[in-house]
Amino acid sequence: MALRELEFPVHTLDNHCLLAQGSTLDLETLNALIESGREDRYPESDLRRYGSVTKDTLSFLKEPPFDKIFGDPQIKTVLDTMQRVSLPLPVMEYLDYFQKSDVYTYRHLIIVYALSIIMDNALLEDKDAQYLIAKTGPSHDFGKTCTPPSVLKKKTPLTQNERAMLEHHVTAGYVIMGYYLKDADCLSAALARDHHERKDGSGYPTGIHLEDRKTEIIVVSDVYDALISKRPYRESSYDNRTALEEITKMAERGEIGWEVLQTLIGFNRAGRPHYKEVKVSIEKRGTPPAKNVYGITEE
Ligand SMILES: [Fe+2]
Ligand SMILES: [Fe+2]
Repeated sequence: MALRELEFPVHTLDNHCLLAQGSTLDLETLNALIESGREDRYPESDLRRYGSVTKDTLSFLKEPPFDKIFGDPQIKTVLDTMQRVSLPLPVMEYLDYFQKSDVYTYRHLIIVYALSIIMDNALLEDKDAQYLIAKTGPSHDFGKTCTPPSVLKKKTPLTQNERAMLEHHVTAGYVIMGYYLKDADCLSAALARDHHERKDGSGYPTGIHLEDRKTEIIVVSDVYDALISKRPYRESSYDNRTALEEITKMAERGEIGWEVLQTLIGFNRAGRPHYKEVKVSIEKRGTPPAKNVYGITEE
């Protein structure tokens, strides 16, 4: 990990400062932070039994357009997988935070997690890898607790400084997950840090050439939901065809791999064919929604 000076602080939900603004984040700093909390013992909580997670998952997946992707077998896969996942209680409390203060992000976390579970099952041959990613839970954006809600909910293009505050969520998520899971190398921390990176090096925070297939599945699930779900910053969302075309453009540019795209498209087709049987159309007919400010920064 490259040395990085933090532009913004990282704190826990109960406002305990983990890393101050201006501190240097490297593996040594993170390991020292983890060591400082080594004696803390947290009870674990089962994901399926936590709060209204199961009920909310079912209601989100049964709403259009996700009802097309999640038939009964896919919902069963998601629930069966969630049954095997338990996480430290302070990590689960991040779900409560979003459920109360930012319902868009709460729904996004659950949908991205559910999409990643079925895509892992279709694409990753290694059962251990499938379980490993499931075990991370719906945590990829937990670092958004360090982004002001006014930025997350802004309806007009972000300023450069607001964009930096938003992008800080990947670093914050990396620190938070490493700290609570007491492991700087755990997959939850890596997914939080790398889910805005791209295969061609065009992402953030470091512009690595993303190679990890598990992270790539989160990348695609994340962008897909960001396009097709309701958001505070636009009046209407992308229709499904246009959203899939946007993700196809990402594969054409080399930002993501074709197989992950084929897997997502397979779940959108009748009979949900195996990804190797999915031929991707590169014809573009869709129209992005009017007044869309997704990813747009003010000069
Ligand atoms: Fe994110
Ligand atoms: Fe996300």
